[in-house]
Amino acid sequence: MACRTRLDHTRFRELSLTYTAASFFAGIGGLDLGFERAGFAVTFQCEINPFCRDILEQHWPGVPRARDISKVTNAEIPASDIWTAGFPCQDLSLARMGPRDGLRGGKSGLFHEFMRLVRGALPRAVILENVHGLLTSHRGRDFAIVLKALDECGYGVAWRVFDSKYFGVPQQRRRCFIVGVHRDARSAGKVLFEPERSDGHLTSRGHNGKKSPSLFQTVVGDPVKGPLTKALAHCIYAESARHTGTDWSRNYVWYPDGRVRRFTSNEVERAQGFPVDWTLPQAGSCFDSDRIESKRYHAVGNSVTPQVAEWVAHRLGCVLRDQCVEQLRGTDLMRTTPCQLGEHAVAVCA
Ligand SMILES: C[S@@+](CC[C@H](N)C(=O)[O-])C[C@H]1O[C@@H](n2cnc3c(N)ncnc32)[C@H](O)[C@@H]1O
Repeated sequence: MACRTRLDHTRFRELSLTYTAASFFAGIGGLDLGFERAGFAVTFQCEINPFCRDILEQHWPGVPRARDISKVTNAEIPASDIWTAGFPCQDLSLARMGPRDGLRGGKSGLFHEFMRLVRGALPRAVILENVHGLLTSHRGRDFAIVLKALDECGYGVAWRVFDSKYFGVPQQRRRCFIVGVHRDARSAGKVLFEPERSDGHLTSRGHNGKKSPSLFQTVVGDPVKGPLTKALAHCIYAESARHTGTDWSRNYVWYPDGRVRRFTSNEVERAQGFPVDWTLPQAGSCFDSDRIESKRYHAVGNSVTPQVAEWVAHRLGCVLRDQCVEQLRGTDLMRTTPCQLGEHAVAVCA
């Protein structure tokens, strides 16, 4: 123990304790839940929608919460290691099937408000999440704006499109994750890519060489009583088929007697990987009970699959700890014995 008193305590804390995360455009906390499961502590949330704010308060009571990002100042954001932002996708989404305003749009353009705050604090890492339409909006010029903004702030950046169906979630949902690590050109790539894995793709053929049925073709449920549904849901959108014709016109549940219905909000919650009743307001909530179903559906359609966020967060945590160990090489701290560093740090240093 004598050794500990000679150490730089901030760095010792970093090796053995939790990292902190501030969440912007927090929605119902899909990113927050994933980061928390990976060991991060949520320090701050920013979200304008009253229903989402209620759900956030249910799951993160007492966490400071701001409303409109355009009114937030750096002074109100607690110091946090990483910042996350699943910024609005309305002006970028291909599901809109029309001209896209991209980052000039009133909603997706809130990215610039996020960057205003990033410039004022330069957190150690930032994680952005959006629809993959971000990559093609204005022929890629919008994505170039995102990369340039992060680069100008000193972030080394990597991006990758993930599909929720590869994370144990029964939904095809492709989303772009962008990771920026401050003053570090290599770490973002280490978070998102896995050189330790082979480049093999999942084969669509079974052991007998025959093509296996797609999960969309596979039907689950009771063939006599129902309900029946496809094993894999099409991407769930917040706005549903009213605008796009893409969501519940394809995602539905049916019964052998011919009845058909859209998914309930409990079912979309499960197809998004959330715990049961995650978006069910507590008794006494001020929301009109008739409208709760559509509010839940909308919020879940907008959210991030927590399992994908957890995967990214877990790898980011490992990279940040590696970075810290690297900086500590040759210092007193690295000369301490493993038991003095604590269980987690042993794994990091090994
Ligand atoms: C794509 S969703 C993010 C969902 C979130 N990542 C999750 O997992 O639930 C974008 C969110 O930004 C919020 N938003 C829109 N305008 C905002 C503003 N001016 N300030 C703060 N949040 C805003 C929306 O209400 C919405 O919940």
